[in-house]
Amino acid sequence: MTDTPSENPNLAQMEATHASGGVARREATIVRGQGARIFDDQGKSYIDLSAGHGWAGLGHAHPVVTRAIREQAETLVCLTESAYNDQRALWLHELTELLRVELGSTDRGPLTRVSISSSGAEAIEAAIKLARLFTGRTEIVAFQRGFHGRTFGALSATAKQAFREPFEPLVPGFSHLPYNDVAALSTGVGERTAAVIVEVVQGEGGVHIAQLEFAAAVRDTCNRVGALLVVDEIQTGLGRTGRWFASQHFDLAPDILVLGKTLGGGVPMGATIWRDALGPIPAGSHGSTFGGGPLACAASRAVLEVMRDQDIPQRAATLGRHVLDRLSGSNARVVREARGLGLMLGVELRKKVTPILRSLMERGVWALPAGMNVLRLLPPLTIAQPDLDDALTVVLEVLSDT
Ligand SMILES: Cc1ncc(COP(=O)(O)O)c(C=O)c1O
Repeated sequence: MTDTPSENPNLAQMEATHASGGVARREATIVRGQGARIFDDQGKSYIDLSAGHGWAGLGHAHPVVTRAIREQAETLVCLTESAYNDQRALWLHELTELLRVELGSTDRGPLTRVSISSSGAEAIEAAIKLARLFTGRTEIVAFQRGFHGRTFGALSATAKQAFREPFEPLVPGFSHLPYNDVAALSTGVGERTAAVIVEVVQGEGGVHIAQLEFAAAVRDTCNRVGALLVVDEIQTGLGRTGRWFASQHFDLAPDILVLGKTLGGGVPMGATIWRDALGPIPAGSHGSTFGGGPLACAASRAVLEVMRDQDIPQRAATLGRHVLDRLSGSNARVVREARGLGLMLGVELRKKVTPILRSLMERGVWALPAGMNVLRLLPPLTIAQPDLDDALTVVLEVLSDT
């Protein structure tokens, strides 16, 4: 008979025996989350400065989101898009209204059409397919250090050689230009380009922020050659950078906006949203069983409601400035630079980040790497200031001791 977890307390070993190995694990078995804290099976608590790798914008087990999930789970969990649904209809209306208010004041018209999926990578796949469909072109331009996911299309848009190499050949037609290099756009983007795909703050690539003139040049270049601009806001979207959408910091009007992570409040969800003028796509051209399920839509409605009611983006802006001030004040020798926008923060180090992450964990703080030598902090946007300050004190002490 197979051991049940209660008969075999070594859950980590049990999991390691059967897990794919594709994701490196830390030495902790997390069994519960509440607000900005997560707890392991030994009762140890961690302040979660990773927001669960970016999805927990509202923290863990937010009561409004939890209630929405519970009520919807008792009503209707899943329904494909082959029938209309109350939660999906309301969510589509609420999301596109938000986009109209926040991103609608440009001359490119509103973002009104949405393909709903179940992950960030899948939402990027949709963006790539749409770009080819709408333009009749095949080439996609992305950027060095960019990260867009690990499915074939998303991986083809992702620059990092170590992620790509074992799976080549990838999808043809992708190229990667240097980030923040305006001159490279004029030669790298042309009349065969279907889309340029960009993160305005690169997350996995090291928390690098686009320069204003670069963002403007990306938009101008797309206009000049007739390519679509895809902005990947899977990590930056929904308040993370101190605005609802990071594109707003750059006055950038995407043709296709991609959201994920925080969008579903922890229920897997991605969204690919495009301009009204591009119109709907033909029936049968894209969709999936779980995309747009009522459970995800209900959870996301709760996320949007809490964010709006509590002006969470503004909170992220205020707390983010505070964190950046404290990090920038560090005179630890290991710190090369602290940078960030809102509560998306990176500390570039003169050493590898892994031992620092381990020391932080020992002291009850869960943070993230971004590449080999950037410490990335993505706290829940709802984190209480005392928790944030306590965690920062630990971060600064660990950096000083390194
Ligand atoms: C900017 C960006 N795009 C795409 C993805 C992929 O999302 P997912 O892990 O949900 O497939 C991520 C995930 O970290 C991301 O940060």
